[in-house]
Amino acid sequence: MRAAQITDLTGPAAISIAEVPAPTLGSGQIMVDVRCAGVTFPDLLMTRGEYQLKPPVPFIPGCEVAGIVAQTSEDSDFKVGDRVAGFTMLNGYAEQAAVNADWAVSLPERMSFEQGCALPMNFLTMDFALIRRGRLAAGETVLVHGAAGGIGTAGIQLAKAHGASVIAVASTQEKREVALAAGADHAIDVEGFRDTAKELTDGRGVDIVVDPVGGDRFTDSLRSLAPEGRLLVIGFTAGEIPTVKVNRLLLNNIDIVGVAWGSFAFMEPGYIGRQWQSISPLLESDTISPPVGRTYPLESAAAAVSELADRRATGKVVVNVTQAG
Ligand SMILES: NC(=O)c1ccc[n+]([C@@H]2O[C@H](COP(=O)([O-])OP(=O)(O)OC[C@H]3O[C@@H](n4cnc5c(N)ncnc54)[C@H](OP(=O)(O)O)[C@@H]3O)[C@@H](O)[C@H]2O)c1
Repeated sequence: MRAAQITDLTGPAAISIAEVPAPTLGSGQIMVDVRCAGVTFPDLLMTRGEYQLKPPVPFIPGCEVAGIVAQTSEDSDFKVGDRVAGFTMLNGYAEQAAVNADWAVSLPERMSFEQGCALPMNFLTMDFALIRRGRLAAGETVLVHGAAGGIGTAGIQLAKAHGASVIAVASTQEKREVALAAGADHAIDVEGFRDTAKELTDGRGVDIVVDPVGGDRFTDSLRSLAPEGRLLVIGFTAGEIPTVKVNRLLLNNIDIVGVAWGSFAFMEPGYIGRQWQSISPLLESDTISPPVGRTYPLESAAAAVSELADRRATGKVVVNVTQAG
């Protein structure tokens, strides 16, 4: 089968296309004929050897896929021909992927494969972040950084689905429009976001900050929190890992909350399946509808991943494996 491979760790430009053996079906897995693979920031970090998971080269990147079930193991709830999305961690940029059945979810008919592949990594992460780690309650206000990105748009849609108001923070007007289309109540510039967020909350501040960006905006994020607010540390796309003077936490009764969905989910069998059970009704009711950005053929996987490196992505960037190159 055709697949995109990382053969050296010099960045996304080094992703190349290769003929590789098709995967074999392991116990409890389903084989998926991949239509679309989601492009995630961890894929980018893996092209540089900067992610916590460091497979030996060559390897096939791709954390998440959407497609059609081609084969099942015995006692599977899925059947051949089902439309599914699933988390893979690796091996997604390929014509076929073996997916643990309990890491997969059925896709409603009206949801495209492009939208489906946007679900696994970011919606499972943001469900864990907002509900389990962030203790989100209906009626709270959530500020989302990187709001037009994968984590950002998932954060907007899940926060809204759970009854929150959302203030989206993004660096360009085009990105702010994506955030509004995803369901944010307000979309504001990175510049001056702390003052704008205070104005929008009548001086009170926000209950939760979703931070996949880090860098020099971190202190202003803490200052944007209301008493008993929580800042969810999700990633560091700005590059710099912030440090904090802990007196700020004490003075305002605020929490900084670490979020590492993957390491949590891998250690707790059945957790991802339970997450899909709570997310599925939101898919069925159209409450979740991930915004899709640019779509690339498999041959252009390098260009797709480069979009995230260059801070250009708006909505979910997708590799469509069946699209002609
Ligand atoms: N903790 C977890 O369990 C977990 C799970 C999945 C992903 N993550 C992490 O979450 C982060 C976001 O992932 P994503 O898929 O949402 O990425 P994405 O779609 O590329 O969005 C990232 C956003 O970061 C902002 N940004 C600020 N400075 C940037 C820079 N120098 N380069 C690139 N982007 C920059 C951009 O928004 P503006 O231009 O609007 O500022 C961009 O939209 C990554 O660090 C990823 O590893 C964590």
